[in-house]
Amino acid sequence: MAIERTFSIIKPDATRRNLTGQVNACLEEAGLRIIAQRRIQMTTAQAESFYGVHRERGFFRDLVTFMTSGPVVVQVLEGENAVARNREVMGATDPAKAAAGTIRARFAESIEANSVHGSDSAENAAIEIAFFFAGTDLVG
Ligand code: CMP
Repeated sequence: MAIERTFSIIKPDATRRNLTGQVNACLEEAGLRIIAQRRIQMTTAQAESFYGVHRERGFFRDLVTFMTSGPVVVQVLEGENAVARNREVMGATDPAKAAAGTIRARFAESIEANSVHGSDSAENAAIEIAFFFAGTDLVG
């Protein structure tokens, strides 16, 4: 199985409730290694650009407002099958549909305030990692 990297965000609803450590514990227990991590206040321009693929969706404005409403923790995770592994441990986007024990089932407040983001493919992971990190920031 290939060692892969993926991109993750701990969202404002989770940082507000001081859940960074608990989310990180879930990731580490799932076999993912946090090889870069930074707590930032996302700007509106950053959120609009990062979520640009959703620009035409009805929830876009609210999503940008939410993602800039407080600190987020941007992360790079490494491990076997990291993209799929992280999506598994996050659970479904809508916490009402997330499997028991997943991060979103345990912590998410709503489909918007759903505690974490994770890349949906290796291609997008590379793009999303490069959006926030330089190659020298990644220490595997
Ligand atoms: P994320 O994985 O960060 O990617 C896009 C985000 O949009 C998603 O998680 C949700 O937090 C947010 N979102 C808000 N409303 C919806 C919706 N109706 N369907 C999908 N995603 C939504």
